[in-house]
Amino acid sequence: MRASFYDRQGPAEEVLETGELPAPTPAPGEVRVRMKFSGINPGDVKKRAGSEGSLMPFPRVIPHSDGSGVIDAVGVGGDPSRIGHRVWVYGAQSYRAFGTAAELCVVPDQLAVDLPDEISDELGACLGIPGITAHRAVFADGPVTGTTLLVHGVLGGVGSLAAQLARWAGATVIGTVRTSADLAEVPDTIADHLVALDSDNPAGEIRALAPNGVDRIIEVAFSENIDLDNQVARNGTVIAAYATRVERPSVPFWPLLFNNVIIRLLGSDDFPVEAKAQAARDLTKAAEEGAITIPVGQILPLEEIVEAHEQVAHGARGRVLLRLS
Ligand SMILES: NC(=O)c1ccc[n+]([C@@H]2O[C@H](COP(=O)([O-])OP(=O)(O)OC[C@H]3O[C@@H](n4cnc5c(N)ncnc54)[C@H](OP(=O)(O)O)[C@@H]3O)[C@@H](O)[C@H]2O)c1
Repeated sequence: MRASFYDRQGPAEEVLETGELPAPTPAPGEVRVRMKFSGINPGDVKKRAGSEGSLMPFPRVIPHSDGSGVIDAVGVGGDPSRIGHRVWVYGAQSYRAFGTAAELCVVPDQLAVDLPDEISDELGACLGIPGITAHRAVFADGPVTGTTLLVHGVLGGVGSLAAQLARWAGATVIGTVRTSADLAEVPDTIADHLVALDSDNPAGEIRALAPNGVDRIIEVAFSENIDLDNQVARNGTVIAAYATRVERPSVPFWPLLFNNVIIRLLGSDDFPVEAKAQAARDLTKAAEEGAITIPVGQILPLEEIVEAHEQVAHGARGRVLLRLS
């Protein structure tokens, strides 16, 4: 099979190769997916680059955890009726060596989720890492119906899905973008209200929309936004953070404490298995109901994986996918 892989970490153009590798065989409890699209996330790029402390976990890695395709084989004892089903895949390269940047990818049965007809292969390939992270950020602390969430960075992969999932579940969403120039870029369906963080008084604007403070905050830039977050939190607000600019942020400790703020840090590789499975079910349902849209930027052939990684590394707007077949 054709696959892209790396045997050491480093710059994309130096370590990523594309060539023929042996076709994998599914073990008991696994399925094999003939991939249509491989979805690329910032985390895949960081793993390949060796940034944020990530190490080479296996002698050879086929990158990317997300994708979509059709099941073409099941392991011994598996359910043969799954063969031929369209699926979306998550977690393929989480604690596993061989991800979705290949014509064939083997994953545990439950990581290949049936795709209803209403969901395109492209959308399916974009649901995994950002969707599951967004789902836990929104729901880990209970239902959000009737609450008000502040979701930072709603043009981003995770932020956009967090906002859409929260609205799907009946929350009011105040979304932020970094610059006022980006306000017009946010589709109407993403958030109920938008605030640009470069405005004169973003905290005042958020407080005007949520006079008693927001119930939850979904945070992509903990070190940059923690003061603002504290200013708009009510007593007991949960700040669910999945990224930070500065590794060792300074925080307004006493103001956060007097607000009884709860800080939830999210590492998607190690979410509880059942939380991921629930996220997969909810993401599929929300997408099937038309409540999720994800703009796709570039779709590149496997051979252009280096260019695809560069685009993701430079913060491409719109998801970057590889086409496998
Ligand atoms: N912890 C986990 O399990 C987990 C899971 C998924 C992703 N992540 C990490 O989370 C980060 C974002 O991932 P992604 O896939 O959503 O990336 P993405 O699609 O590039 O989106 C990032 C978004 O955050 C916005 N942003 C940046 N700084 C901001 C700030 N100070 N305030 C508000 N918004 C800000 C960006 O806006 P601009 O375009 O204006 O810069 C962009 O819209 C990456 O570092 C990724 O590695 C972590």
